[in-house]
Order: sequence, then C-alpha cells, then structure tokens
Amino acid sequence: MKYALLSQLDALDATDSLLVGLCGKTLLGAEALPEGVSEAVDKALKRGDASAKRGATLVLPHAEGKKAGPGRLIVVGCGDKAAKLDADGVDRAIEAGTRAALKLGNKRLVISLHAGLCDGEPATAVRRAIASAGQATYRFEECRSKKPEARALKTIALLTPAGLAAAPARAALRQGEALAEGLALACDLGNRPGNLCTPTDLARVAQDMAGEFKNLKSRVLGEAEMAELGMGALLSVSRGSREEAQLIVLEWSGGKKGDKPIALVGKGLTFDAGGISLKPAARMEEMKFDMMGGGTVLGTMRAIAAMNLPMNIVAVVPASENLPDGAANKPGDIVTSMSGQTIEVINTDAEGRLILCDALTWVQGEYSPRTIVDLATLTGACVVALGDKACGLYANDEGLAQELLAAGQQAGDRAWQMPLWEEYQKQLDSPVADMQNVGGPGAGSVTAACFLHRFTRKARWAHLDIAGVAWNSKKLASGRPVRLLTQWLLNQAG
Ligand code: BES
Ligand code: MN
Ligand code: ZN
Repeated sequence: MKYALLSQLDALDATDSLLVGLCGKTLLGAEALPEGVSEAVDKALKRGDASAKRGATLVLPHAEGKKAGPGRLIVVGCGDKAAKLDADGVDRAIEAGTRAALKLGNKRLVISLHAGLCDGEPATAVRRAIASAGQATYRFEECRSKKPEARALKTIALLTPAGLAAAPARAALRQGEALAEGLALACDLGNRPGNLCTPTDLARVAQDMAGEFKNLKSRVLGEAEMAELGMGALLSVSRGSREEAQLIVLEWSGGKKGDKPIALVGKGLTFDAGGISLKPAARMEEMKFDMMGGGTVLGTMRAIAAMNLPMNIVAVVPASENLPDGAANKPGDIVTSMSGQTIEVINTDAEGRLILCDALTWVQGEYSPRTIVDLATLTGACVVALGDKACGLYANDEGLAQELLAAGQQAGDRAWQMPLWEEYQKQLDSPVADMQNVGGPGAGSVTAACFLHRFTRKARWAHLDIAGVAWNSKKLASGRPVRLLTQWLLNQAG
C-alpha cells in the first residue's frame, strides 16, 4: 500500500473513494468536503440507511450529476456525539472504513484528517491513521497454495490535519509508513506456524533485517556459546527440543557512540507445548504466538530503523521451543541460571521466565543499558486479569512506568500497571533452591514479574505481560505492542 498526503480535497475523481465520519446526524468536517457530499449523506439519513453506530459503514455513490468529486463515499459511524469521539474511536473508524474500501473497485482511498477524524497532536494522528489503515489492509496469505487476488486499492491519501505544516506532515507520514512496516513484520512472524518459524528462522529474519539498514547490526549466539556463558536456565528449556536455541541480538546505533542503549528483550518461544507439564490439546495451536514478545521487538526494531531514530537501542530475543522429550526439564529439576541463582522447575510450562532471566542477565553484563523493557506472552493469568484490552505493566521505576503508560495511551495501544510489591516474592520461595519457577495459584502474572525482578534488581526495568493482547480471537497476530514501544522510543528520542 502507498500512503500520501493531500493539502486539499478539490481534485478527487471517480477512481477515488472518500471516507467520511458520521456523528449522530452530523457529518464530520462537512464544510471542507467536496460539493454534494453533505446532500448525499443527508438523503441516506432520511432513507434510514446511514447509521452513526460505531464502526457501521455505508457505501454511497457520490451525488450523480456532479462532474467532479469522488466515485464513492464511505460513511463510517463514529458514535452519537462528536465530543465523545476520541483517538481510539478515530482508529476504529479508519479501520472500518478502510476495510469497506478494500471491497470496492476504487484505486485510492482519501481520508480527511483535516477536520473531524483527528484527535490529539496532529503528527501522532497521522502516524495513528497510517497504522490503523495498515492494520486493516494487512493480510497473511503466504501459506496458501494460491496467490491472493490483487486489490484495486493502491493508495491511501490523508488530508493533512489542521495545524500541521508540510514538512512535519511529510516526516509524520514517513514515520507512519515505518510503523506500518514494523507492525506487518511482527504480524507475519506471529502468524507463521511453529514449523515455519523456528528459532533459526527468527534469527535469519533478524540477520536479513540488519543487512537492510546501515546502522543495524545482528549477532546470533548458538547453544555452545550460551553454554560457555552459563545460561543454564535458558538451555534447560531448549534441551527438550530438536531445534537449536538462538540468542538473537540486533544493535541499532542511531545515537552517539558510547551512549548507553535502551534494551528491548522479547520472549521468542516459537512453540510452547508446555514440556513435560504438557498443555491440554484444545487451542494448543495458539502457542505458535508464544514468540510475540520477540516478534514485536523485531517489528519495533524495523520501525525505528526505518525512522532512523537518533538513539542507541539493543534488542535481545531468546528463542527456543518448549516440548516434552526424554531430555526435557522434569518437574523438580534444579537449574543454575547465568546469574548464579538456582531455580527449582516446579512446572515446565513456566518456561518463558527461564529463557528470559538469562537473556536479562546477559544484556546487563554485555551492554550496561540505561533502561530495559522486556515483553513476553508470559502468563494465562494476565489474560484472566486484563483480557485483550491492555497488557500488564510492571516496573521497578515509577518514572519508567509512567512513560510507558503515556506512550500506550498516545499510540492507542494501552498498558495497565500492576503491582510488583515485595510481599509477593515469598510465593517463589523453594524448599531446596534459591527460588522456584512458579508462585502458586494466586497472582500468577504478578509472581511471574517478581521472578524476572530477581534478575533485574540493579537495572531501570519494566516488564510487559502481553499474553492477552498479542493475538486476537480470530487467531491472527495483532502486532501489539509495537505501537506502544515505537511511541515510547519516539518520545525518548525527543
Ligand atoms: N506461554 C504461556 C502463557 C500463555 C498462556 C499465554 C495462554 C497466552 C495464553 C506460558 O509459557 C505459560 O504456559 N504459563 C503458565 C504459567 C504457569 C505454569 C505458572 C500459565 O500461564 O499457565
Ligand atoms: Mn508455557
Ligand atoms: Zn510460554
């Protein structure tokens, strides 16, 4: 898909469709729309065809008899009151309208951000609009035997929001495109099944990406190097699998040489069967998404590299499978992590924390990052707590927590803060080792975060439990929280 900016709406023709928002009985930004649009929508309202219900769409031919103007109008419901339409509502309207546009024969979809379909800071509105349109046009067809049909829609053009000059609008457009690319990469990686997205496949994606950008370098550590480093927790998980574990690293050097990087660490469990503590068969196929911490880290790296962000960032993705096998972890096994701390593996299905703890120890020793954010589809308990509306946020630094919460709000990809109180730590006490890998039935997402905290005490650190948001009920990856992370990094870059 191509994205473009328009400064006015006077040059539309029959090959275009125009997305217009309807709040109650009022057309958003009606005064700036081409002649005839208001009448056409008024007539549809009188007939009872048009609805302002959120996400409802109606396609109308543009007023007959008018020579100029778009071929079709896509009227999207935006709720009953314009005052209630926030940026999330705008996202949903753009997604719904873009999906409707894909079914038409028009070559270009025009979305007016000038008035109406724009909430918040204008450059952010442009990025969000492109991300939303990008999500709507995304499809995953690489595993079908037939090539997908070509689509008529080639370009999405945004009428620049009021108050945004041409140069910053172009910059925001490029950032939006970069974000859409990063989102699509993350979704592709998630949607690929376990047999086509092994730890080695993930490593190759990172290496190929490094080849595309001048300031991006990759490093991949195999099991021999990890053994040398003493990564006993990570390796204990991958021992149950025939696929070699990989520690995948991407270094983005857009900042000053010597500036400490921000570290992103993502769980890259390419398939989680649970190990000896085997998961039930129902919905086990969804555990191909258990690498989406890593997938969204790689997607975010693609976005920030394409944006050429002036800062240093290091991404680390510990990648492994978790399968039952004669060599796999057994309940009760005790392993020694790279930090020296010993862990009793009560439940082999709590494997994410085992691969993450060694990656967290390693990145601190190797890069002395100024801040670490890790992301993981870590616990079913987080899905119970927050569902698919927000990811769980834990941080040992309140400033960092606020930065991430704000970025999520700004980007329409929200997190919700959960407690990391010391009182929870004793649930991880083991009778025989320094800790056990599960904390009992209560507060499962919290105790998982507390486990990771035992490896990040000295760092400025946050953890996002993305188990509920990483994919949707249609069993497709969502790309979350690429938008949150990218927004946070943009904010950090100033
Ligand atoms: N990858 C899962 C968590 C998960 C479950 C994510 C369902 C999304 C949907 C993780 O490795 C896991 O199995 N966690 C266990 C931990 C438990 C054994 C303490 C869980 O949540 O059941
Ligand atoms: Mn598991
Ligand atoms: Zn898992």
